[in-house]
Formats: sequence, structure tokens, C-alpha cells
Amino acid sequence: METLAKNIVILNHPIISQNLSIIRNKNTDCERFKNALRRITYSLIYEATKDLPMVKKEIETPLETTVCDVFDDEAQLIIAPILRAGMIFCEVAQDLLPFANVHHIGMYRDEETLEPVWYYDKRKEIKEDKQKVKVIILDPMLATGNSAVDSIKNFISKGVLEENIVFMSLISSPEGIKKVNTRFPKVKIITSALDRALNSKGYILPGLGDAGDRIYNTID
Ligand code: URA
Repeated sequence: METLAKNIVILNHPIISQNLSIIRNKNTDCERFKNALRRITYSLIYEATKDLPMVKKEIETPLETTVCDVFDDEAQLIIAPILRAGMIFCEVAQDLLPFANVHHIGMYRDEETLEPVWYYDKRKEIKEDKQKVKVIILDPMLATGNSAVDSIKNFISKGVLEENIVFMSLISSPEGIKKVNTRFPKVKIITSALDRALNSKGYILPGLGDAGDRIYNTID
């Protein structure tokens, strides 16, 4: 793959590598899979929110008064998990960002065309200030890029600025990154692994298999 654009971040850290090795292993059971995935999710969310607006607040410690940086009550943040695998990211995101609005996106992949089929879109309209709202779209697998492009398009059509959208994934394919970055160059992509390629069924290689099946223990 050619040099990555500035707004594509691939997190690289020994703790992430260790947990990715657990997640990728086909013999890892559902509980260990989810625990390893949650550990990585914390780092991804930190990266996705490092520019979050903060305000100063006076706090009394047991010893004296000090000034701390705290979340701005006016901050307008939407976290948008793509069902179903995105929900595991969402649990951690809500823990860290309790003030965020959660906007569920329901889509599944048509196995023939590999195109996303929508079945749920929580909010038809963005009630927050459209110019200011920041959106973090959550999906562990950025594979063909079709669901990513569709979900980004959905937020832009509702008035969100392209530069205020972050797409967060655990594992990405070169094809998926290229598709999103070509279509929406201002969207930041944050991921913890850039894998080799996609197979003919749109699965990431080496990947981890079907993320939803592994999280929800629905492997036949
Ligand atoms: N979705 C998954 O769960 N896994 C892949 O490899 C690609 C898409």
C-alpha cells in the first residue's frame, strides 16, 4: 500500500499486539476474545477523542483548591456503533464518554453483492449543532469499506461535517482504507492493525474471522 495519509492512524503498541494475537487465534474462546478486544478498545477511544474540547473547573482536593480540565458540558459527541459487532466498542466508549449520544446503525452485508443492507437508523435527524457535532463510527472490521462509506454518507447527508467524523476499527484491510480515504479524505481512520488483503468473500486476511460471530458466540 502507498504511504498512508496523515489522518490514517494505525496504533502500534506492545499491549495491542499481545491482545491482537489473542483475538486472531481461532482457539480463543468468546470470553477471552471479548476481554482482549475491550483492552484494545480503550486505546482506540483515547486516540479518537484526543482533541475533545475541555474546560477548566475548580476542584477542592483534601489539601487545596486546584484547576482541572474536565469534559465540556457543551461538547456534542455522537458515538455510532454499526450493529452488531460495533456494540463491543460501544460498551467501552460509553464507559469513557458517558455524556455522548449513541446513534445505532443497523446494517448487514449482502453475501452476494457485499453491499450493506440497512435495517435500522436510530435518528433521522441530528438534533445537535450540526457544525459542531463530532461523530465516532464504531466497527471492528473495516473490510470492503462499503458499510463505512454508507454510514459516513448518512451522517454527512444529515449535516455533519466530513472533518468531524472519525471511523474507528480494530482491523482494517488496505482495500477498505483506500475506499474510505478516497471518498472521504477528511475522515480520520483509527485502527489497530492494517492487514494484508480481502478474500473473495470480503473477509480480511489474516483477520480474525467473523467478528460478530466471535463476540456473540454464534459460530456454527
Ligand atoms: N466482517 C468481519 O466480521 N470479518 C471480516 O473479516 C470482514 C468483515
